Amino acid sequence: MQDQIINIPSQYKAIASATRQLDFNMASDLYTGSLLKTLVASKPGARILELGTGSGLATSWIAGGMHKDAVLVTVENNEVLLSVAKENLKNNRIQFVLEDGYTWLKEYKGEKFDLIFADAMPGKYDLFEEAFSLLKTGGFYIIDDMLPQPNWPDGHAERVKAFIDHLESRNDMVLTKLNWSTGIIIAVKIATGI
Ligand SMILES: C[S@@+](CC[C@H](N)C(=O)[O-])C[C@H]1O[C@@H](n2cnc3c(N)ncnc32)[C@H](O)[C@@H]1O
Repeated sequence: MQDQIINIPSQYKAIASATRQLDFNMASDLYTGSLLKTLVASKPGARILELGTGSGLATSWIAGGMHKDAVLVTVENNEVLLSVAKENLKNNRIQFVLEDGYTWLKEYKGEKFDLIFADAMPGKYDLFEEAFSLLKTGGFYIIDDMLPQPNWPDGHAERVKAFIDHLESRNDMVLTKLNWSTGIIIAVKIATGI
């Protein structure tokens, strides 16, 4: 088996080009994108939440896996990056939210989600409980960049380890850690006590 990515979204090339021009170096990679598309496709009618749209690279993969009755809410606080995503992913089932993720997580009162891709500090290292409370039982909580990355600031490795230890200590999720891509964790929310 070749570790080769196929079926790259049609919008990906244009988004990647705009992303390079902006010198944005936190983009999700192709493997993460492909995995997201696959998991999203497992959920007809899904409500999906992405925290940290960036320029929309992962968003393009998520959109590619969405059934026609699925919806995506994607939150980003950088207007320039979000505009790249919006311009390239014209889809009325995607709600692009220009807002601080901390504020959004504290104030969101809508329906829960079937899959959350938490790719910003809020919803991952901060306000994890708030984000996880928005996930339905049986829903996927996905994070990447769990293996050392060149752009990690000092002290981040310790934060990553503490976060993984915390996830592994919980009884309301089952998870698998993948030493693949940038280091991915796939967690599924379960009712406690099953
Ligand atoms: C790792 S990048 C996301 C990459 C993106 N998923 C992709 O496919 O390229 C994290 C993103 O979170 C955004 N971000 C950082 N702090 C945020 C906050 N407080 N609220 C919302 N977005 C935030 C950054 O601007 C950045 O675009």
